[in-house]
Amino acid sequence: MFKFNFEVEEDASEDPQSVKSPIFEKDAEEADSEKTKDIDWYQAVKVQPTDNLISILDFYELNAKEIEVGKTTIRHLVAGFLLDDIKAQSDLQDLDIRKSEENHSDLIAGVYEGGAKIWECTDDLLQYLSEKHEDSFWKDKRVLDLGCGSGLLGIYAIKQGARVDFQDYNKDVLEYITYPNILLNVEETLTDDEKLKFLDTNTNLYAGDWSHFAELTKDLEKYDLILTSETIYNTENQGKLLETFAGRLKSDGVVLVAAKSHYFGVGGGLEQFSGKIKQGNVFRSESVWQADENLKRGILQLNFK
Ligand SMILES: C[S@@+](CC[C@H](N)C(=O)[O-])C[C@H]1O[C@@H](n2cnc3c(N)ncnc32)[C@H](O)[C@@H]1O
Repeated sequence: MFKFNFEVEEDASEDPQSVKSPIFEKDAEEADSEKTKDIDWYQAVKVQPTDNLISILDFYELNAKEIEVGKTTIRHLVAGFLLDDIKAQSDLQDLDIRKSEENHSDLIAGVYEGGAKIWECTDDLLQYLSEKHEDSFWKDKRVLDLGCGSGLLGIYAIKQGARVDFQDYNKDVLEYITYPNILLNVEETLTDDEKLKFLDTNTNLYAGDWSHFAELTKDLEKYDLILTSETIYNTENQGKLLETFAGRLKSDGVVLVAAKSHYFGVGGGLEQFSGKIKQGNVFRSESVWQADENLKRGILQLNFK
């Protein structure tokens, strides 16, 4: 069984919004491999809270963990607890998260894309955001946490006052992890109805493949800031990812990509991705942060050219 190894070895159009697809051609590596070409990638759908989300919140509260990001506290579910809970429920046999556990795999391409865990570059990007931006930066900002998994980046932005949408490949992840995590971070004094209203007015959650997501949301307001962590591992998906940036980012918007320098077994990595951005000639990118430890992780900032 393939084990997804996250360990680290080490001038566009005047109006970028008008750029037509496909703008990011497949690179040689991508075209050669086409490992996942027969996959029927999930369609995009808007995901609503499950009926029992509020009623099980007390249970989730007991199993939440806190992390400090600057002066912001973020609460989130512990992944191990969640998976045990899901396994114990007989009506949740078919969840994609569960399939990954049963296969002892971090990834089943096109079925489960890794969102049930919190990956380490999320922490890098959280720290970067807290050091880089004053509170005033976030006011009226519209933010997308793309490939959100647990959603900590988006939750951080919500806590600074931004309006945030979340996207993950897996509906299960959004229902059983992202939604509970968002609720663990809303004002505790709110009534249950007010919590649901908060979700309804402040966030949208979308599941499905990036290409379908961009299409589903193409007529909606674009984002000032797209945050994405550990989403460039699979070279075959990078074109879709970049086209999603191009389609959903405001013309003066910014994308921050946190990632490792290399992902074994799947071929992606920061330097390789930078090359692809350059080749697409739509964005300029610069490295805005690198980990001290042998440059194994970093953050890229993308702006339209
Ligand atoms: C390794 S996880 C990272 C999760 C989270 N950002 C973190 O840092 O903890 C990769 C994420 O990218 C998303 N993803 C990967 N391929 C995708 C695709 N083709 N379409 C949509 N989302 C995708 C998955 O849903 C998954 O949550």
